[in-house]
Amino acid sequence: MSLITPLKLGNKTFSNNLIQGPLAGLSCSPFRRLIWQYSKPAFSCTEMISCKTLIHQSDHAVKRFINKATDEGPVCFQLSGSDASELAEATKMATAYGADLIDLNCGCPVKKIRSKGAGSRLLTEPSKLYHLITAMKQNTHVPVSIKIRVEDVARTEKFNRNIAQVIQDAGADFLVVHGRHWTEHYETPCRHDEIKFFVDEVKIPVIGNGDIACSSSLKTMLATGCAGAMIARSGVGQPWLIAKLIAEMNQEPFQTPSLQETCSILIEHVSDLSQLLNGEKFAIIQARKFAKYYARQLSHRVEFCNEINHCETMQQFISICKTYFN
Ligand SMILES: Cc1cc2nc3c(=O)[nH]c(=O)nc-3n(C[C@H](O)[C@H](O)[C@H](O)COP(=O)(O)O)c2cc1C
Repeated sequence: MSLITPLKLGNKTFSNNLIQGPLAGLSCSPFRRLIWQYSKPAFSCTEMISCKTLIHQSDHAVKRFINKATDEGPVCFQLSGSDASELAEATKMATAYGADLIDLNCGCPVKKIRSKGAGSRLLTEPSKLYHLITAMKQNTHVPVSIKIRVEDVARTEKFNRNIAQVIQDAGADFLVVHGRHWTEHYETPCRHDEIKFFVDEVKIPVIGNGDIACSSSLKTMLATGCAGAMIARSGVGQPWLIAKLIAEMNQEPFQTPSLQETCSILIEHVSDLSQLLNGEKFAIIQARKFAKYYARQLSHRVEFCNEINHCETMQQFISICKTYFN
């Protein structure tokens, strides 16, 4: 039996249980649109949006964070904040902007976010977290989730059990667990045993996240008993990855796009960004962060990235891509 199954989260059911996760600086509509076009995951996430940014929106914020394209699939808006009334307001706004689900970030390790009491810092304040979740639930009809990092179960099983209980009791519809502690970098492997701890501890669905890049790592994640899996970094530059994983898990054939097709996808990604952000300058600056992922298969990857880092116009960008990918 395939491990790819329909996924019921709160009042919504999705046709499969694979999700494209949030990536700051990347997960805006041009990226999610490609993911939907090539993979049809259960849903994709926005990058983390601070409640304050959403409430006091600038033109830039509206375009970068809130825009939901008409031809993309379901989107989970991820909010960051630590104030219940701001979160209530931001939840209402995200719902009005068309969020299909809304997540609260409780995993961000960045100092600037933690110092405001948000991100992973919220895990040290269970009663505050409880009020934040109830504020979200009272202000939307869409499913609400919490994305957390883990504590080391061997040392603090009680802590994780407490957090799991608070999230469930406050009424979250599901929980996303990234199997690392907030102090850990990506060199530390994801800890599946700690994801399994949450799966065993709560009755709401758990989505496992961390280090999924192929069907073998996906199987390891799903073996924790989690209801679904979230893939973040590996989806960048290969928007077909989730479709490929679904095909492999169902023992169906899959045709990976050629280098030329990958080149066209990269150009489409940056052209869409340029339209969204009203200017190729911003799009190219952003492309410098993700072009390397599209270049995974290139033999001259380093040289390609170097040239992209120095290019300034869309015309130059397209010409560099065509030189290296053809
Ligand atoms: C560049 C970058 C940006 C990220 N931005 C966010 C974010 O905005 N919100 C969030 O919850 N997690 C964010 N994450 C964490 C990922 O969503 C995910 O939890 C983590 O990368 C592990 O999954 P992966 O191994 O599939 O990448 C970010 C990670 C990276 C590398």
